[in-house]
Amino acid sequence: MSRYVIQGGRPLNGTVTISGAKNAAVAILPAALLVDGVCRIEHVPDISDVRIMLDILRGLGALARREEDGTVVIDATNVRDASPDPALVEQMRASYYLMGVLLGRFGRAHVALPGGCNFASRPIDQHIKGFAALGAEVEETEEYVQMHPGPSGLHGNRISLDVVSVGATVNIMIAASRIPGQTIIENAAKEPHIVDLANFLNTMGARISGAGTDTVKIWGVQSLRGNTYAIIPDQIEAGTYLAAVAATGGNVLVKNVIPKHMSCITSKLAEMGAEILNYDDAIRIRCGARLHHATVKTRVYPGFPTDMQAQICVCMVLASGVSRLTESVYETRFFGYVSELERMGADVQITGKTAIITGVEALAGATVDAHDLRAGAALVIAGLAAQGSTIVKDCHYIERGYERLVEKFRGLGADIRRIEG
Ligand code: EPU
Repeated sequence: MSRYVIQGGRPLNGTVTISGAKNAAVAILPAALLVDGVCRIEHVPDISDVRIMLDILRGLGALARREEDGTVVIDATNVRDASPDPALVEQMRASYYLMGVLLGRFGRAHVALPGGCNFASRPIDQHIKGFAALGAEVEETEEYVQMHPGPSGLHGNRISLDVVSVGATVNIMIAASRIPGQTIIENAAKEPHIVDLANFLNTMGARISGAGTDTVKIWGVQSLRGNTYAIIPDQIEAGTYLAAVAATGGNVLVKNVIPKHMSCITSKLAEMGAEILNYDDAIRIRCGARLHHATVKTRVYPGFPTDMQAQICVCMVLASGVSRLTESVYETRFFGYVSELERMGADVQITGKTAIITGVEALAGATVDAHDLRAGAALVIAGLAAQGSTIVKDCHYIERGYERLVEKFRGLGADIRRIEG
């Protein structure tokens, strides 16, 4: 298993450029299968989740190639197959978007249940409820989901989600964009990558309005045409570098961000004592003194993202006083990394959904395990801030979602390297 070896205790300085958003890319790339013609998708991050998704699309018969500047070109004209390779589908979570894509394009789908980071139980009942409301007859087993049109055929419908779900909102939007009639999703998720997906589909000729609010309306169209689209910057990657500077100290310009998407994160770091300067498409963070304690509760967008829970936890571990961190999206998410941080000297007590964190003056390097993507990113931050040497094992989890992480941190002066095998 590959690992990162970090010599901690160096402040971060310089400039880092954020890549295209993972969670937008893993929705937009499969959605390109709905398009008759060639899609050019710019700023696609070169991460393992994207590589797996492109392999799935190729396996279905699409032509998909990456150009040097990060543009991915997809021509799905000759796709005929509605059964993606289960061995690939099981390697990532967002492969569940193939269900909506294939239902929208062919009216049928046979897709294995997704894999990916297993930090919590991650049901897909709201996706299935949406497909059924669109007229699909859905067979769900412990291994796969199979769908075909029910007796009244596929048609638009009004769907009220029981929980605010990013994945269900995306999957229903994707399918409904090619299913006749009007679909209304109520209690929809509002994350920036949902707006990005709607903008992509509309650029290709779809008729979607309201993305970014809790009511999304989709008028199904007969066909979509090829076009060029650029993916938004990754909110969570940017937040991870900001948290790293807050934890280690330093002065970094984080380029290629949309500051509005970052405000829930930057306002919290500012409250903890970091100096934040917002520009049009960049954020500067300066941090010299010890951080102050804080209270954070994760929420759906525009609240503080659950995908930043672990990274802000490291800042709290090093802050003065007692912080409270409450998880409201995935209750079990703490278990992916808190025990590893404790091995580095952190003082964290978990009571139900809340972690009570008593700040320590310093962390000590240790050998720790990355159990999932964001937990792994947090351990990298802890290693950069700690005294001595830290080894983060199983770094392939981190590489699911962070493009060139080692190179980017080295560019900021960090002593981090990747060891193979
Ligand atoms: N939920 C249900 N039923 C469903 C769907 C979701 O009960 O059918 C529950 C979940 O158990 C959870 C909550 O609803 O408690 C929210 O889940 P959501 O569906 O929004 O999560 P997701 O779509 O599976 C995406 C991101 C995650 C991110 C969450 C929350 C992608 C590919 N993944 O997951 O990203 O944590 O939204 O914002 O977009 C990551 O990037 O590290 C990551 C895990």
